[in-house]
Amino acid sequence: MITFEKVTKRFGGKTVLNEISFEVPRGETFVIVGLSGAGKSVTIKHMVRLLTPDSGIVRIGNDVISSARGAELERIRGRFGVLFQGAALLQWLTVFENVALPLREHTKMSEEEVEKTVMEKLRMLNMEDSAEMFPADLSGGMQKRVGLARAIVMDPEIILYDEPTSGLDPVTSRLIDQRIKDLRRELGMTSVVVTHDLHSALSIGTHIMMIDDGRIVENAVPKEFIQSKNKTVQQFLESQYITRRGEWEKGMDNHVG
Ligand SMILES: Nc1ncnc2c1ncn2[C@@H]1O[C@H](COP(=O)(O)OP(=O)(O)O)[C@@H](O)[C@H]1O
Ligand SMILES: [Mg+2]
Repeated sequence: MITFEKVTKRFGGKTVLNEISFEVPRGETFVIVGLSGAGKSVTIKHMVRLLTPDSGIVRIGNDVISSARGAELERIRGRFGVLFQGAALLQWLTVFENVALPLREHTKMSEEEVEKTVMEKLRMLNMEDSAEMFPADLSGGMQKRVGLARAIVMDPEIILYDEPTSGLDPVTSRLIDQRIKDLRRELGMTSVVVTHDLHSALSIGTHIMMIDDGRIVENAVPKEFIQSKNKTVQQFLESQYITRRGEWEKGMDNHVG
């Protein structure tokens, strides 16, 4: 579905992606993990051509997005829904109007169809009761769900998430993870998720790929990923378990105190 062939990207003198090749199969939830600065966001940005490779090719099915132009590029981009960091909701529009925006801009749907489509998506994310609220009145987790509704309102084939749970508390993060899983089941979309949260990765991923310093160090199903013999992967796994245990211990201390 999405294919990277020897993609290299440099910024200034720094090679940020170093001839990376991989494939995201149709219908899968493909998770990209790695430390901060590893090249995860740069990778996912190439999928919608927010970045162009210095060399190599990015294909979306049979479409070569890495060299597409004009109307062709717009058509390929139309195959995607995206939930990226910083893609904020418009504060002066209600939840309903925020989700309706792509339909009003890119389709000729009647007002009735817009209403039906938006409410259907809000319902999927348990946000139908908040349709008339403004973003500022919602919690972080609710705002993410509205962003998710907006990302899927055009029924994209592929959805891209860059750190969908960053800034959310652990309980809310798990709820968002569950929504991502539900959407895959209900809509059969191909999903690519960038995260540094291994807990999320293992819970939602059907494939997990780790990038380190612009190179792929592992690409496997979750069961194999956690048994990786790669040193960098092992360190990454260990670091997250230790952090997690640290958090639990702190939490228990607070409880006792
Ligand atoms: N537009 C840009 N200009 C210059 N350097 C960039 C740009 N985007 C990313 N980088 C650099 O590329 C590296 C990888 O960034 P990124 O993919 O955002 O990391 P992450 O894995 O945390 O998402 C970092 O060193 C970052 O500073
Ligand atoms: Mg990033």
